[in-house]
Amino acid sequence: MIITLTGYMGSGKSSVGKELSSRLGWPFIDLDGYIVHKKGMSIPEIFATEGETAFRSVEAECLRDIVTMHQLTGENAVLSLGGGTVTISSVQHLIFGQTFSVYLSASVDTILQRIGGTDSGRPLFDVDKAAAMLEKRRPLYEKAGLTIVTDGKTPAEIAQEIIDEKEKNI
Ligand code: S3P
Repeated sequence: MIITLTGYMGSGKSSVGKELSSRLGWPFIDLDGYIVHKKGMSIPEIFATEGETAFRSVEAECLRDIVTMHQLTGENAVLSLGGGTVTISSVQHLIFGQTFSVYLSASVDTILQRIGGTDSGRPLFDVDKAAAMLEKRRPLYEKAGLTIVTDGKTPAEIAQEIIDEKEKNI
């Protein structure tokens, strides 16, 4: 089984993913990290040289690779998606139909507190546009099988909540 974590930039997908993987004893995969490894370029470099459309095709290809590989081997994994992976219509059926998908819901305030004042290496992050972009994407994130409100919670608390909910669902 793959547990996918989705949510806006700065919603804690990577830190919760690592915590969850260590609690479950499952491998952790970060989709952005996988893309960087495959392309040999950083995310900002890919956006700058090839643009968002090309980035989304690589992102979709990497996600398909990971899901197919795990379906063939039957291995478990915790997979943190990028904040925009759910916007790629050709992979939505994989995320929501083939994995245990979890939306880490964070308020704009929480997001801005986490990554607002930093150069976080996220080409699409803009303090002034974060609220509108989050609202636009929210219906897609909400397609996940499970939504966890993360405001004010630690990665350890969130990971445990996911484990508890997953056990109820199986
Ligand atoms: C993006 C989110 C980023 C990364 C890329 C695009 C987005 O991932 O995939 O910069 O469109 O929201 P994180 O959510 O891990 O920052």
